[in-house]
Amino acid sequence: MPEMAFHEVVASRRTVRDFLPDPVPLEVLDRCLDAARRAPSSSNLQPWEFVVIRTPGARRVANAICLDQLPAKTAPLLLALVTHRDTWRRNRDEILRVFQSRGPMRKRQEAYYRKLIPMIYRMGPFGLLGPLKRAASRLLSLFRPTPNFMSRSDLRVMAHKSTALAAATFMLALRAEGYDSCPMEGFDPWRAAKLLHLPRGAEVNLFLAVGKRSEKGVWWDRILMPREWTVREL
Ligand SMILES: Cc1cc2nc3c(=O)[nH]c(=O)nc-3n(C[C@H](O)[C@H](O)[C@H](O)COP(=O)(O)O)c2cc1C
Repeated sequence: MPEMAFHEVVASRRTVRDFLPDPVPLEVLDRCLDAARRAPSSSNLQPWEFVVIRTPGARRVANAICLDQLPAKTAPLLLALVTHRDTWRRNRDEILRVFQSRGPMRKRQEAYYRKLIPMIYRMGPFGLLGPLKRAASRLLSLFRPTPNFMSRSDLRVMAHKSTALAAATFMLALRAEGYDSCPMEGFDPWRAAKLLHLPRGAEVNLFLAVGKRSEKGVWWDRILMPREWTVREL
């Protein structure tokens, strides 16, 4: 298929719930994963991991974890997209390493990653620091604009935000290649964590069913909320 223009890609991306059995070529998948890796992320910490579920045994279990939804059952390919709150130190160090390899670092850059990032991500013993940091941020915000120094639940939201952007980029990249997807949040998160051997601080953001749509893949015409409900000016 020739390359589609961006708006055509956006308009033709639909949630597909019934797929043809045709496999997704490895090079297509790789290009789409590489597109997703370029998604923006909070502090560029890229808190995501795409797990391609290949083995038939794992796939059977994953389908059940996705509550045997039709997209999971019919898609030739299933991925789990994991959000990691546990990789910030490793990824922060990688960013510092790359910066350093490019020459002298700017003082502000270094301070951001060495001081501010740990302050945001550290939760202290039993996570006690989290609520304190959040309360202090709220208090300071009464007097001057203050960033949220984050409780654990704020951190979760932050990591999921970035991961969802990677998911959107991945789905649009697939569409640009003539492939379809179904993002699924209807799954058992505890069994998913067990299947994927997730460490503490990691959880599944979405499962993604991937393939080419069948004739009955799109269940209804797109429904859009009125523009004025979703866009406003202040
Ligand atoms: C976070 C998220 C979770 C979703 N979970 C499911 C799901 O579990 N099963 C499903 O069939 N569709 C799921 N969807 C697809 C939505 O129902 C779909 O995006 C919406 O109806 C709009 O349709 P469209 O994507 O074709 O425009 C999910 C979408 C998002 C963004």
